[in-house]
Amino acid sequence: MRVAIARWLRHFPWWISKGIGVSVKVETLVLFGATGDLAQRMLFPSLYNLHLDGLLADALTIIGSGRSKMDRTTFHAQVRAALTEHLPADRIEDAGVAAFLDRIDYCAIDAGAGTGYDELAALLGDRMQRPIGVYLSTPPSMFGPIAQGLKAAGIACAECRIAMEKPIGHDLASSREVNQQVGDAFAEDHVFRIDHYLGKETVQNLLALRFANMLFEPLWNAQAIDHVQITVAETVGLEGRVSYYDGVGALKDMVQNHMLQLLAIIAMEPPASVSATAVRDEKVKLLRSLRKMRAEDVKAHSVKGQYSSGAVNGGAVTGYADELGQPSNTETFVAIKAFIDNWRWKGVPFYLRTGKRMPERKSEVLIQFKPVPHNIFARVGAGKLDANMMIINLQPEENIRVKVMAKQPGLDRDGVKLKEVTMDVSLSHSFAGERRRIAYERLLLDFIEGDQTLFVRRDEVEAQWQWIDSIRDAWAAVDMAPQTYTAGSWGPSSAIALIERDGASWHD
Ligand code: BG6
Repeated sequence: MRVAIARWLRHFPWWISKGIGVSVKVETLVLFGATGDLAQRMLFPSLYNLHLDGLLADALTIIGSGRSKMDRTTFHAQVRAALTEHLPADRIEDAGVAAFLDRIDYCAIDAGAGTGYDELAALLGDRMQRPIGVYLSTPPSMFGPIAQGLKAAGIACAECRIAMEKPIGHDLASSREVNQQVGDAFAEDHVFRIDHYLGKETVQNLLALRFANMLFEPLWNAQAIDHVQITVAETVGLEGRVSYYDGVGALKDMVQNHMLQLLAIIAMEPPASVSATAVRDEKVKLLRSLRKMRAEDVKAHSVKGQYSSGAVNGGAVTGYADELGQPSNTETFVAIKAFIDNWRWKGVPFYLRTGKRMPERKSEVLIQFKPVPHNIFARVGAGKLDANMMIINLQPEENIRVKVMAKQPGLDRDGVKLKEVTMDVSLSHSFAGERRRIAYERLLLDFIEGDQTLFVRRDEVEAQWQWIDSIRDAWAAVDMAPQTYTAGSWGPSSAIALIERDGASWHD
């Protein structure tokens, strides 16, 4: 029987078969924060896509939960409106939407006041005996109290699992506290910490690029690589998230999670397999090898910025403080020169930069290789050879470009002429016709099926905070304030100096 199932599973992509193979699927999904922005923009549209593609078991039911009291029909109308607003028109099928809504119930819970859990238990009925997946899309301060509330109401069975959005705490100590409170109700192998970057196809592709090809790995180290740049640039500003963003800033909002996960995948040692344990063991080792920031280095190794008014995408935009309505010390841009203290990366700087109101939306990894050790063409007229460079575009473009030297055609009577040319692999072109899925489709499916590979483990989050705390402490020690940059520029001029001091330049 197992052999037959295994043979049958081969017809499915590896992640589906792996999920089915390792864990029990949840039968009820309870979504806290179901009336919130993320649920409306991402979670319900993603669940609907999975439903429409036949990827959700018939038995799966969804219970949306929010603070407001409302009946099922009113909630259905909200979900229907969210689907119409956030999905392309050709995905909306009347019968499909009706069948999807059929799966959905609503239960009001005031997690702050600790009320509504008994009503949830009553609504769950005998579903309480079967695996439940609880998804928290709520303010992070609610993670601990909700986990405790579920436990008290008996909704934390051995096969129940919990997923949480970021951030887990606001520093190492508070993240430990949240992890402890959640861990008290759910075992770690049932806790799914979300970093939506891990759900992105292009981020997963970094694993394929590094470990499914022989070409790069032998060169992936300090012997061959001069430095690495990771840029996550956004054109958006505050987007009405004032109450969340101010006081948090780019370091905690983007570097602590998304950028460090990217860094870990790019720099970790090869895991033995793509199992959750193997991948996360390697990531955590890498995160722990990040050199802590010291107060004496912080001015040379980091830059904080805050945008002032300017123009983005041809339109005038107001500055951060004006959007906020008061002056603020929160950084909307950060650039960091990081080092990984291990054998592989000794002495290789990793330049990280992220910011809001940049000139374009672009997430990119650049690997700058070292020059060849000896230029054999020097005597026949070829000047300096450009060192190879690999640029991996994660979004919105999906491509990989490698810059290599090539001989310019000719008889070479005046000397050999070499020129840098680009090998360009467009992933959107190579996989044209494949629908690009929302990152949350993948994450929700893995959560339902119990595969933790693309979720962040407790020790990873804590290692991330440890490094971030060292930067914040160093900033505080030297009283570092954000420097102004014009909206629509690549950040303060000191961010350019940060890398140019080392003889390199940002790839803009
Ligand atoms: C979120 C941050 O985690 O990621 C936002 O809180 C940011 O500030 C967003 O805009 C970026 O995600 P994406 O998928 O648009 O790159």
